[in-house]
Amino acid sequence: MNNLAELEMSIGVIAAEGRAAIEKAGSPDECEQLRVALLGRKGRVTTLFAEMRNFSDGDRPKAGLLLNQLRGQLESQLEAKGTELSSARLQDQLIAEGIDVTLPGRPAHLGHLHIITQTLREIYAIFQQMGYQIVQTPEVETDEMNFQLLNFPPDHPAREMQSTFLTKQEGVILRTHTSPGQIRVMRENCPEPVRAILPGKCYRYEQITPRSEIQFEQVEGIAVGEQITMADLKGVLTEFARQMFGDATKIKLRGSYFPFTEPSIEVDVTCILCKGKGCRICKGSGWLEILGSGMVHPVVLKNGGYDPEKYSGFAFGMGPARIAMLKYQIEDIRLLLGNDLRFLKQF
Ligand code: PHE
Repeated sequence: MNNLAELEMSIGVIAAEGRAAIEKAGSPDECEQLRVALLGRKGRVTTLFAEMRNFSDGDRPKAGLLLNQLRGQLESQLEAKGTELSSARLQDQLIAEGIDVTLPGRPAHLGHLHIITQTLREIYAIFQQMGYQIVQTPEVETDEMNFQLLNFPPDHPAREMQSTFLTKQEGVILRTHTSPGQIRVMRENCPEPVRAILPGKCYRYEQITPRSEIQFEQVEGIAVGEQITMADLKGVLTEFARQMFGDATKIKLRGSYFPFTEPSIEVDVTCILCKGKGCRICKGSGWLEILGSGMVHPVVLKNGGYDPEKYSGFAFGMGPARIAMLKYQIEDIRLLLGNDLRFLKQF
């Protein structure tokens, strides 16, 4: 090719076909293929540029101008189409992966402490105010700690009050009450005076009923010193009952029996439901039993390291489950460990 007329015709064809092809391109990849076919090293426009050497000196500048225009036109069409296609692709992607922020959210449920944990913490707070420290003692104990040192002789009938889970190891058991902790804190603190509460899990091999579980919490309390009397026990438990159940609460001490206390007493509080008038919960008596206690038996003081001629002390043991059940009028102890959220959420 060596004349402008022919060149203009070819440019017209390439421009028209190129525009149509670019118009139809459906993806950025197709655009790239078109760019190579038109403007690449062997592309149609590049091939025309090569023809320029056949033109006369007079026509060559004009031919160059026309070809540069064609190239510029196609380049900008390709670029515009490329941008259009990739923004359309982005749009599709955004729609496909999009989140509708106007949809109503799912509410996040807030948990809370278990009712037994709440009750334990109330008990801790009350005794901490009175100067008691909180001490953890083992759940797996020896028969000696759980019974013998607490003045349960072997084969003593009082052992039957607390049927025991044994382990494969002779003499090692799951504690049936927190009272073996009394021996441990006494031995750790002797001859200093001690005031402590000992919370924790206990186990008894018994029938599960609405009123008793095989696993349950207890909170033991112990105070040992040189001048401790039953009046101190009464004062501490009265204060506890008032803080736990309300200022008007009274306590009643009833004689009882535990091998490790002498004298032994059981403590009742005025019924929290009827305030003492008599109702279904207190079975008409106006009183509810909440704990066992007494003055630490001289034999137990001695086993803890203290001289019973010089020292005395009191101890008590309560079940937070029973306290929570009374306070919230829960009729079946099995609900507490049943893990039914419909029940637990109420507290
Ligand atoms: N350990 C006794 C029980 O489990 C309760 C108790 C503790 C009684 C301390 C007196 C003194 O029944």
